[in-house]
Amino acid sequence: MNIHTYEKIWLIASMVLIVGFIATITYGAVGPGIAMIDDDGGTIDPAEINDDERFDDPGVEHVGGNEYEANIVAQTWLYTPEEIEVPANSEVTFYVTSRDVTHSFSVVGTNINTMVVPGQVSEMTVQFDEPGEYGILCNEYCGEYHHTMEGKLTVVPEDEFDLTELSVDAPDEVDAGNETTINATVSNGMQTDLETTATLEIGNQTSEEAITVSGDSSETVEFAVDTDELGPGDNDWTVTVDDYEKSGTLSVVAADGGDDGSDGGDGDA
Ligand code: CUA
Repeated sequence: MNIHTYEKIWLIASMVLIVGFIATITYGAVGPGIAMIDDDGGTIDPAEINDDERFDDPGVEHVGGNEYEANIVAQTWLYTPEEIEVPANSEVTFYVTSRDVTHSFSVVGTNINTMVVPGQVSEMTVQFDEPGEYGILCNEYCGEYHHTMEGKLTVVPEDEFDLTELSVDAPDEVDAGNETTINATVSNGMQTDLETTATLEIGNQTSEEAITVSGDSSETVEFAVDTDELGPGDNDWTVTVDDYEKSGTLSVVAADGGDDGSDGGDGDA
């Protein structure tokens, strides 16, 4: 059979186009790492989010090495937490779920953009090489204040990142002459050991304690406070651990001068 030259050219051209179309669709689906929301992250009962191991205390967790997990809850009209901090040179897996209606979780300027469907956990893993700041937006219309639903992702230099928390337990008041303690608890969210120093300053006393907090745990340091040295009155105190600081006031209450009111029996019989 004889095919006309022009017909051959058109046949070949249309074949090339068809192959081209299939290639672009394949690349679009596989190449840039775009994935449809699926059940990879698992399912969750939106009513049980507060009791869920992953979402009861949302935030960033260290998994090991340079791997982190960021657990985020979306609801009308905010993300918890609203601000996320991760270190540079890290691989972060985001787990996002919704408490109420369908939202989205989009990190502007990155390829993180997922729908957040109640009942589903959206999961995606991203590499952050450089420090930077990104806005987080909800792209899915979710009601009256949809436009106010936003957050912030900060990639900080590796050496500025930690998951340390400091809490201090101190009395407000103590009687003069009594001993008391100010307790500083340092918790370490990293999987690696934290070696640091806790410092208490009160009045003109300064005490320092070296502490080692092993990975994913916490340690409490007890600072004994000598009220005789402080003297009566209000004493401001500050506990410092690395860049973290807590402060308060301890009132030393003077004893009532030892006057016990019993001025001796005057013998009546
Ligand atoms: Cu959430 Cu729009």
